[in-house]
Amino acid sequence: MPQQVRGVIARAKGAPAELTMITIPDPGPGEVVVAVSACGICHTDLTYREGGITDEFPFLLGHEAAGVVESVGENVDSVAVGDFVVLNWRAVCGQCRACKRGRPQYCFDTHNARQKMTLADGTELTPALGIGALADKTLVHAGQCTKVDPSADPAVVGLLGCGVMAGLGAAVNTGNVGRGDSVAVIGCGGVGDAAIMGARLAGAGTIIAIDRDDTKLQWARELGATHTVNGANVDAVEAVRELTGGFGADVVIDAVGRPETWKQAFYARDLAGTVVLVGVPTPDMTLEMPLIDFFSRGGALKSSWYGDCLPERDFPMLVDLYQQGRLPLNRFVTERIKLDEVEHAFHTMHAGEVLRSVVVL
Ligand SMILES: NC(=O)c1ccc[n+]([C@@H]2O[C@H](COP(=O)([O-])OP(=O)(O)OC[C@H]3O[C@@H](n4cnc5c(N)ncnc54)[C@H](O)[C@@H]3O)[C@@H](O)[C@H]2O)c1
Ligand SMILES: [Zn+2]
Ligand SMILES: [Zn+2]
Repeated sequence: MPQQVRGVIARAKGAPAELTMITIPDPGPGEVVVAVSACGICHTDLTYREGGITDEFPFLLGHEAAGVVESVGENVDSVAVGDFVVLNWRAVCGQCRACKRGRPQYCFDTHNARQKMTLADGTELTPALGIGALADKTLVHAGQCTKVDPSADPAVVGLLGCGVMAGLGAAVNTGNVGRGDSVAVIGCGGVGDAAIMGARLAGAGTIIAIDRDDTKLQWARELGATHTVNGANVDAVEAVRELTGGFGADVVIDAVGRPETWKQAFYARDLAGTVVLVGVPTPDMTLEMPLIDFFSRGGALKSSWYGDCLPERDFPMLVDLYQQGRLPLNRFVTERIKLDEVEHAFHTMHAGEVLRSVVVL
């Protein structure tokens, strides 16, 4: 029997997030209904609500979540009723060219539920990033459910579902940060701070946090930054060079995603170092730079989608590290809120007052 539950939707461009009743179908083949325990609010949810991603309104918001499998459809054997799972937006297909070449992190045919969740009047909803977890329950593909240690706090480990994984993976997977490396991170929101935490986990020596907000810099220090630079007051490139013996950092991560921050990342890097772009630019942004600089400085210029993660490989390992006290994931939860407070949380996020607001159900 299809069920009626509460969900937070963005009905039309510019409209505030709205709590309403939605209909969840019974899971079909390969599908799973998950009772959501907690869901973080990511910048991307706000971008959906503003019409910045697609115009396929209405959206069912939310995509950084953990919950418990409530029911499974036919042909589901990877999870069972009662399993505690973190939801992911990279359920790899195993069949596309990228998967077959052994690079499933670039899979271009990732799985989502086939059936649609709807409004009470039957209008089909578009779930954010194929998840839609700002709701009591959601319908996803079985591959979007990654089993993790059930004793972990869902409000904390659900954050691995997007921004924290993106930042941590930008350092560890894409940037390949290693023991003793120097690392600089530009932009210390949830994504940048996760990159800092990842750099520390990987054994980086000098970790420089750059932001324009002193509160953010203080949080960055608590998550592992050894030095902080307020880019509003000093030249960030010069500051990074000074802190790295005049060389520049081995890996510089741009967690803002603007032409000026990317340029800073490029020039704050040591010769043959690596730049990782994890912040998401808008389509109108362009870059003009001397081509000779790309040639003569060498190194690697990379971008990172979802931290080049593989959920099945990375989520359980990171949850275990958190449970052992070796990864302070809990520090990303600034506040715990209710399902009817999402619009308010968008304003708090916009004002830069939180790393993450997490809805707890
Ligand atoms: N690549 C991915 O898979 C992926 C996944 C999730 C989010 N993201 C993107 O990562 C970016 C960061 O997300 P977030 O949730 O951390 O956002 P956020 O808004 O919480 O943090 C951004 C931080 O950058 C700082 N900042 C802004 N302009 C700056 C500048 N010129 N110099 C220095 N600091 C500056 C802000 O003060 C803030 O602390 C966004 O673009 C988001 O869309 C990417
Ligand atoms: Zn694939
Ligand atoms: Zn996200």
